[in-house]
Amino acid sequence: MNHACGDCARTDIVCLTPGIAAMNRVSATEHDARHAVRRDSTVQLADALRYARMADRWWDADGPFWPLHRLNRLRLEYLARRFANREGADPSRPLAGLDCLDIGCGGGLLAEGLARLGASVTGIDVVEANLLAARSHARGAGLAIDYRYLTAGDLADDGRRFDLVLNMEVVEHVDDFHRFMDQCCQLVRPGGHMAVATINRTLASFAAAIVGAEYVMRWLPRGTHRWRDFRQPREVEARLEAGGLEIHERRGVRVNPLTRRFSLTRSMRVNYMLLAHKPRPTLTPIH
Ligand SMILES: C[S@@+](CC[C@H](N)C(=O)[O-])C[C@H]1O[C@@H](n2cnc3c(N)ncnc32)[C@H](O)[C@@H]1O
Repeated sequence: MNHACGDCARTDIVCLTPGIAAMNRVSATEHDARHAVRRDSTVQLADALRYARMADRWWDADGPFWPLHRLNRLRLEYLARRFANREGADPSRPLAGLDCLDIGCGGGLLAEGLARLGASVTGIDVVEANLLAARSHARGAGLAIDYRYLTAGDLADDGRRFDLVLNMEVVEHVDDFHRFMDQCCQLVRPGGHMAVATINRTLASFAAAIVGAEYVMRWLPRGTHRWRDFRQPREVEARLEAGGLEIHERRGVRVNPLTRRFSLTRSMRVNYMLLAHKPRPTLTPIH
């Protein structure tokens, strides 16, 4: 499957084979738009194709993405609180004036929340079907969000920089983690922030996020996560620091299995969030 598509002949992307496109009842032209995955060393092809097949379910709050719908409230409240005390911030639109980038935006669940908090939002993803779902939903909601079919590296090479970079629930899905994180760090403007949310690699996360969530409770489709791709906080922090950021805050996230409500906690053994800041360079006086 890892070859240029015979139907649309694009070489910068990987498409599902025409057989699978036919199974999904899409025409050759739709096949190009709906089943493309960006070629890049940070992209896990099988994982990305899984997202492409589920792209019409992003906004189904009871569908396969329900944990992200439920997490959204918690992480948006957290971000709103963190940025509400900026000088001149409007409490009803705490992110107003901030240029935000949502990396791996999927169907736009987080991006729309950021836009409603007043931010100017760009969303990028490596699965084109996700962006089609995100654009269509934002249009319906009357939100102006700039969705782009680009990798973090593409955007960094274009020289784009942002006040707030959201890197949420993505690092456990990428290949070439170091390169991905380095590109994400470049996208933060001096004085700006990056928020990372992901899953720790511990025995507890194996029990909760793989065995519990995928096999026992069946909250997520089997194969959603691979334990070896989970990252420990110290691994993520090391990449943030190598990229010139300082860790500002560490928070654990837990889910109540009965109510399926997410909340903040001290323990970072399973899900966790990091907020990091890129200091402005200080000018050394010349004598
Ligand atoms: C679990 S979803 C998270 C979606 C969104 N960030 C959220 O939290 O609601 C992971 C997303 O990352 C995207 N993704 C995977 N590899 C990526 C990469 N190398 N660069 C950008 N996005 C990527 C997938 O296509 C998918 O949309």
